[in-house]
Amino acid sequence: MMETRNTELETRNPKDKIAQVRQLREQAQLGGGQARIDRQHAKAKLTARERLGLLLDEGSFHELGMLVTSQLLPAEERILGDSVVTGYGTIDGRLVYVFSQDFTVYGGSLGEAHAQKVVKLMDLAMQNGAPIIGLNDSGGARIQEGVVSLAGYADIFVRNTLASGVIPQISVIMGPCAGGAVYSPALTDFILMVKESSHMFITGPEVIKAATHEEISFEELGGAEVHNTVSGVAHFAAEDEAAALNTIKRLLSFIPPNNTEDSPHHETDDDPLRMDEVLDRIVPDNPAKPYDIKDVIRHVVDDGDFLEVHEHYAANLVVGFARLYGRAVGIVAQQPAYLAGVLDINSSDKGARFVRFCDCFNIPLVTFVDVPGFLPGVAQEHAGIIRHGAKLLYAYCEATVPKVTVITRKAYGGAYDVMSSKHVHGDINYAWPSAEIAVMGPEGAVNIAYRNEIAEAEDPEAARQRLIAEYREQFANPYIAASRGYIDEVILPHETRPRLIAALEMLQNKRGDMPPKKHSNMPL
Ligand code: HXC
Repeated sequence: MMETRNTELETRNPKDKIAQVRQLREQAQLGGGQARIDRQHAKAKLTARERLGLLLDEGSFHELGMLVTSQLLPAEERILGDSVVTGYGTIDGRLVYVFSQDFTVYGGSLGEAHAQKVVKLMDLAMQNGAPIIGLNDSGGARIQEGVVSLAGYADIFVRNTLASGVIPQISVIMGPCAGGAVYSPALTDFILMVKESSHMFITGPEVIKAATHEEISFEELGGAEVHNTVSGVAHFAAEDEAAALNTIKRLLSFIPPNNTEDSPHHETDDDPLRMDEVLDRIVPDNPAKPYDIKDVIRHVVDDGDFLEVHEHYAANLVVGFARLYGRAVGIVAQQPAYLAGVLDINSSDKGARFVRFCDCFNIPLVTFVDVPGFLPGVAQEHAGIIRHGAKLLYAYCEATVPKVTVITRKAYGGAYDVMSSKHVHGDINYAWPSAEIAVMGPEGAVNIAYRNEIAEAEDPEAARQRLIAEYREQFANPYIAASRGYIDEVILPHETRPRLIAALEMLQNKRGDMPPKKHSNMPL
């Protein structure tokens, strides 16, 4: 049971009203009491209020609902503010709304009062067009409040959905997050997890053991690493709480406060006309050799500053935020250094989600293409690569933000179409001289198209190599596509930065409308 305190305002009869407010504030600061705060610290976790102190600009936090108490608990068990601290403040001078679950009060569990506080904050955030950040640390539905807690979660889920695409929603998991409670973060745009101390799962290790006889630890089941690498549920993994809160600040610096505004402009000393000769040497002459696309990205964007999203998941596609001459862009790029940059189920999901976020929030897309195609294999086919690949295609087709594309090397088959090609309304499409744009790679094409000729040749292998060389010469280049206008210009790698900046400047007032509809029916 909680430390008993009578927090009912009407039972007080203070002589000094100012002293009463001070005393209530002091009491609220303590949440579930010093012993529980100490327990929180012993687990290397900060309290709800300490987290707000690290996240927000100093002195900017305005708390709302500090005196709210649960009306469902007996009076002596009510805690001022209940199990969540809510309010607004600024990050780098920009307005944000934040709720921070207080694990010291009934394990941060969500009952009626907690839900109402969060709902009120979400409504304010929506009405005023600013991001909402949730710092999650909770034992889930408050057992004592029963079905009312479930109703409270649903009230939040509905608002998460309504706010989707209107204001950015960011969730940080800083403790347990279990059962249906995971679905509020899952409905938001970004999930950050803290290594070792945060866990997300629908059913915990005990229930799993009883149901399926599988034995697994909390960390292996739903820790930061597993959700950042295996499930793709989380977008960022932080070493500790302070690092997670810093990542939010960095993330917010790239994104606008709502869907009607643009991202903030950041002054830079990086010359918009900067040519970078290093780019001329990154793509190897041998098309089978890998290179790191992040080198390309860093040499092109302002000050080499790139915030990668989903860094540890589906590494064959790189997505993240950067700036070009001060303007935020979303970057999508194949990674030839991982699985040759092939498109598979996970990378399609990852790319689609990111493209849609950028499109919701007016962030132009810059796509670097080096894709050998979709990943062949029975496992991929049976797991629905058709359905998942369609998501990325759909996302690019639907996106009306400025879309600028650079084909650095391979752009084969359907994957060429998908990756922000002119045909899915890419606005400006560039290719480097090393680009190979064709129906399929030379080896595959020759094996199919010249099967008989190779079989009948005196030296089949020599014939095959000759045909591959001829195919490469004839088809695996950017010039056929350029002659049809599918490529706007073959650019030299070192000119990429000024070319992209000029294109984005030219496109900054782009208007792209979708036909009127209730909403689309994206393949899921
Ligand atoms: C009420 C809760 C609580 C809960 C924890 N507490 N969870 N009180 N409702 N759901 C209280 C504990 O009684 C304890 O109170 C304090 O919070 C800290 O809990 P501990 O167990 O001491 O902490 P710890 O060992 O760190 O374990 C944390 C925990 C564990 C893993 C979260 O408490 C736990 O398993 N709780 C139950 C989780 C759960 O099953 N929730 C329902 C999930 S389903 P004192 O007074 O001792 O400080 C769900 C459905 C959502 O949420 C549906 C949405 C549609």
